[in-house]
Amino acid sequence: MSYNIAVLQGDGIGPEITTEAIKVLDAVANRFNRKFNYKYLDIGGAAIDKFENSLPQSTIDECKNSDSILLGAVGGPKWDCAADRPEKGLLRLRSSLGLFTNLRPAVLHGALKEACVLKPEIAEKGIDIMVVRELTGGIYFGERGRKQSSLGEAAWDTELYSYGEIKRIAKVAFEIAGKRKKKIVSVDKANVLESSKLWRETLIEVSGGYPDIELSHMYVDNAAMQIIKDPSQFDVLLTSNMFGDILSDEASQVTGSIGMLPSASLGESKLGVYEPIHGSAPDIAGQNISNPIATILSLAMMLKYSFDLTEEANAIELAVTKVLTEGYRTSDIFTGGTKKIGTAEMGSIIAGAI
Ligand code: IPM
Ligand code: MG
Repeated sequence: MSYNIAVLQGDGIGPEITTEAIKVLDAVANRFNRKFNYKYLDIGGAAIDKFENSLPQSTIDECKNSDSILLGAVGGPKWDCAADRPEKGLLRLRSSLGLFTNLRPAVLHGALKEACVLKPEIAEKGIDIMVVRELTGGIYFGERGRKQSSLGEAAWDTELYSYGEIKRIAKVAFEIAGKRKKKIVSVDKANVLESSKLWRETLIEVSGGYPDIELSHMYVDNAAMQIIKDPSQFDVLLTSNMFGDILSDEASQVTGSIGMLPSASLGESKLGVYEPIHGSAPDIAGQNISNPIATILSLAMMLKYSFDLTEEANAIELAVTKVLTEGYRTSDIFTGGTKKIGTAEMGSIIAGAI
């Protein structure tokens, strides 16, 4: 059996981190006698340069025909003023594939306690949060525009959520919580926003079908604080698109580095987009200093969620843990007494540990 993977390297550090991830996947293929075929496709700024389109139709078609999708990162100052921004390509990819669920596991690796920015007594309690972020609705996709106001030009965006959109992501969160510590904290701003009130009402309704799962609600400002104050209190953290974007960056930094956090974007089928949660970091692109681990761990999620290859997925996670335990670090997670290495070395060493 062979698996066809679309590889969208994107911009900035995207090409270097995906190259390292594929090194690791090739090592998995070797060890477990699997066959992964790669098809490289354009997205983001790279696609704007070639086709004047951040997501050419050919990329969408090829992605739909593949078994899964690995994505690096998109964006960069070069395209900041372009009519079609690289980020638009990513958002269109998510929506055209119907990927309404975004899973972002924020885990504090034992070997990285030193790199954790929190006080040792807080880090000691451990961090294992699954951020479940709604990905195809809310303010990212609501109507927007510009108009004149008495104070000059004005601009507006709309946070809009339907009952159906909230219900389907809520169900995903409950199913996931059922396989974890059975606790969901749903993030909203129901003291102000109408969309958050519907979010909360819907969550309460859905929770009726899951009596063994504990549901609580937290305002987003408080959630931002609690992630720093006591992240060990969270199991599943359910958020809207925008709140999840913000809180997942925060949760990643709390676990050591944004360079460590993988993600899976999923819909109704097994086809998913797997990408690190970080951006394209154009300031460090091409310097062999970026951390490929978030992308490598995203591949582990692909093996698990798209291909049901649990043993292979575990092999990747174990290899990462082993290499961190042996003290290898890219500069973002480097602390005294560990061994600083580059992007390519990290990829090779993890591949070797497979
Ligand atoms: C992310 C990124 C994207 C988002 C950007 C690049 C559009 O920040 O995946 O978190 O906001 O969803
Ligand atoms: Mg983000």
